[in-house]
Order: sequence, then C-alpha cells, then structure tokens
Amino acid sequence: MRIDIITVEPDLLRSPFENSMMKRAIEKNLAEVHLHNLREYGFGNYRQIDDYQFGGGAGMVLMIEPIAKCIDELKSKRKYDEVIYMTPDAPTLNQPTANTLSLKENILILTGHYKGVDQRVRDQYITKEISIGDYVLTGGELAAAVLCDAVIRLIPGVLGDETSALTDSFQDNLLSPPVYTRPSDYQGMKVPEVLLSGNFHKIEKWRNEKAIERTQQIRPDLLDEN
Ligand code: ADE
Repeated sequence: MRIDIITVEPDLLRSPFENSMMKRAIEKNLAEVHLHNLREYGFGNYRQIDDYQFGGGAGMVLMIEPIAKCIDELKSKRKYDEVIYMTPDAPTLNQPTANTLSLKENILILTGHYKGVDQRVRDQYITKEISIGDYVLTGGELAAAVLCDAVIRLIPGVLGDETSALTDSFQDNLLSPPVYTRPSDYQGMKVPEVLLSGNFHKIEKWRNEKAIERTQQIRPDLLDEN
C-alpha cells in the first residue's frame, strides 16, 4: 500500500513512521508513506497557502490553488482509491473503516490546519472525510498518523502474529477482555484461576463473557450495533 500525505507540518509527521510497527511495515515494503509539504505549492516569496475567510470571522483558511496543484500533480502519477480529508466535522474513524482502507492500494490524505480548507477542495477533490473523535486538534497531522497506524497494522504480514489484529477490541464490536502475564500472584493480587487451567474451551468462554461484561459497562452503544 502507498500512502501520500499532504501537510503543512511534515516534521510533525515524520516520527510515527520512523518507529515501531509503521517503521517495520515500511522496511518490509508492505507500506510506503510519502510526505508532501503544502508550503512548496504556495504563492510568492512567502509561499502563501492560506488567507482570510470571505464573510469575515476569525481564523485563516487553506486556499484551493496550492492544494489543487499538489493533488493534481500526485494524481497525474497514479490513481488513488481514496482522497481523504482529516477534519473534526466528519464521520468518526472506526474499525470497519480501517479494515476497508487496509485493502486499498493508493491512498492520498490531506491534513487541514487553522480554520480548515476552502470548501471547494472538499467538493472537488475529497472522496472521504474522517474525524478521529469529537475534539479539535490544531491540525490534521496527528489525526493522519492515527489513521495510518490503524490501517497499516491490518496489512497482512505487518503484525508478527496474524491473529492478533483479528482479536483486537472492536473487531467484533466488543472491547477486549482483561489480559494478565507473570507473576500469577503479585502481592496477593491473583490472576483468574481459569487462565491458568490450560482448558482452552473454558478460557475462550471466560474471555467472551468478560468482553461482553466490559463492553456493557464501558461502551453499551457498541452492543446495539450487533
Ligand atoms: N483535525 C482537527 N481535529 C481533528 C479531528 N478530531 N479529527 C481529524 N482531523 C482533525
């Protein structure tokens, strides 16, 4: 999978791809990530990319021309399955969306800044808009990193243990059950007996019950979606 990201703050976005799972995915040639600095497509000596909004109001808006130039250049080189805009005023990212995106070949992500982008960019170029939650970040860069992490880890071969992505929270609309490791007794706090029993069937049943219990307590809305 190839991911291109258009950003005003490329430095903010470098580190997530230079560490941990995403670094390994890139090293194994399972994912390629390319950052494009929107400033390079700006106007004049100051490489202007934003301006005041028509109608008045606080905050600058990213202009259509630099973004259009950058997107057109990228689209002339390859076909993108999705052109995604990261913005808080969009449907929230969830596991099914990450699953679907992990099957794509080329994805282009536009990150917003300030007051956002000129609406005509969204109307003309964007095929999918994604928020990572009901709060406002300073820019879409960290949101794009979250999206890339959620998607790249699902590409076959990226995670060492193939089953581990399938048993994540949300894959079946349930939160994960509690997990434990050594020691089995820490200052009197004991690991549930069933996990030490070696009875796989009983362990699976216990995990499922705990997953349902946890989901009922913390995210009952997920159970309504089943
Ligand atoms: N940009 C600013 N806030 C955001 C959010 N919550 N999700 C996605 N992009 C954003």
